[in-house]
Amino acid sequence: MVEVLIGPSSIELGIKVAQELNLKHTLVESKIFPDGESYIRIPEEKIDKELILIQSTHPPQNKHLIELFLMLDAAKDLGVEKIIAVIPYLAYARQDKRFRPGEAISVKVLAKLIKEAGADKFITFNIHKEKILDFFNIESINLSGGPAIGDYFLQKRVINPYVVAPDEGAYYLALEVSKILNCECTYFEKKRDKVTGVVKTEFKKLDVKNKTVIIVDDIISTGSTIINVAEILKTQNVKKIYATCIHPLLIGDAQNKMKTAGIDEILGTDCIPSEVSKISVSKILAEALKKEL
Ligand code: R5P
Repeated sequence: MVEVLIGPSSIELGIKVAQELNLKHTLVESKIFPDGESYIRIPEEKIDKELILIQSTHPPQNKHLIELFLMLDAAKDLGVEKIIAVIPYLAYARQDKRFRPGEAISVKVLAKLIKEAGADKFITFNIHKEKILDFFNIESINLSGGPAIGDYFLQKRVINPYVVAPDEGAYYLALEVSKILNCECTYFEKKRDKVTGVVKTEFKKLDVKNKTVIIVDDIISTGSTIINVAEILKTQNVKKIYATCIHPLLIGDAQNKMKTAGIDEILGTDCIPSEVSKISVSKILAEALKKEL
C-alpha cells in the first residue's frame, strides 16, 4: 500500500492530493527547539512500504529543506522502500549555474542532498529550468500548473482575455493558459542585471485596448518583473490586469507595490501556500501520481 506523508509546509495541498487519490495521509509532527533547530517525528510505528512525501521549500527555505531531509531519513529508518518526494516549489532553483566565478551551484547541491536523504523519485512544478532535472540522479518529473491557471479563468468566464508572459522563459506557461482560453498570447523581452538584479523590460505595442490582460509567470518574488509589464500595459488602455504565477513567493511588500503599479488582482497556485494561492494544482498532481501507483 501507498500512503501520503505531509510535511509542515504543504498541509492543505497534501490533504487535497491524498483525498483525490483516496489514500491514507499522515501529518508529520514538527517543532522548533529554542536554539532554532528543527524537529520532525513521523507519528507512526508502522508505515506503508511506499510513500508519497509532500513538502514545498518556499521561505523560510532552509527550515523547510531541513524538515524535508529529516522526513526522508526518518521514513527510510521506518522501513519505507520507495519514496516519491513531491517538492512543489524547489528552492534555490534560480542558482542553477555559476554566473560569476567561485559561486556555488546551489540547486546541484540540493539535488544531491534530496537523493542522499532518501528520495527515490522527485516530482516538482514548473522548475525554473528543465535542465536542472539533470542534477538529480533519480527519476525526476517536472509538472506544469499552467492548465490549472487556464481552467481557473475559464470558469471565471473572463471576457476578452489576452495572456502575456513577462519574459521568453515564461512564454510556454502563457501559451498553456491562452490555449485553454482560446485567446491571443505574447511575451516581453526582459533583461536582469547579473550583479544588481535590476530588471528592464522592452516596450511592446499590443492589441490590448479594453481587454483583460492575464500576466503569467513561474515565480513572483519581489514583483519587479510584473511591475515593469504593468507599467507598459497601463499606457495601452487595458481594462483589467491579473498577475498570476505558479510560485507566489511575494517577498516583502511585493503585493502592495504591484497593486500600486495597477495590478487589479494577484493570484498564485498552492505550490506555495499564501493568501493569493487560490488556484490548486492538486488535480494535476494527483493525475501524475496515479501513474506511479
Ligand atoms: C525569472 O526569470 C522568473 O521567471 C521570474 O520572472 C522572476 O523570478 C520574478 O522575480 P521578481 O518578482 O523579483 O521580478
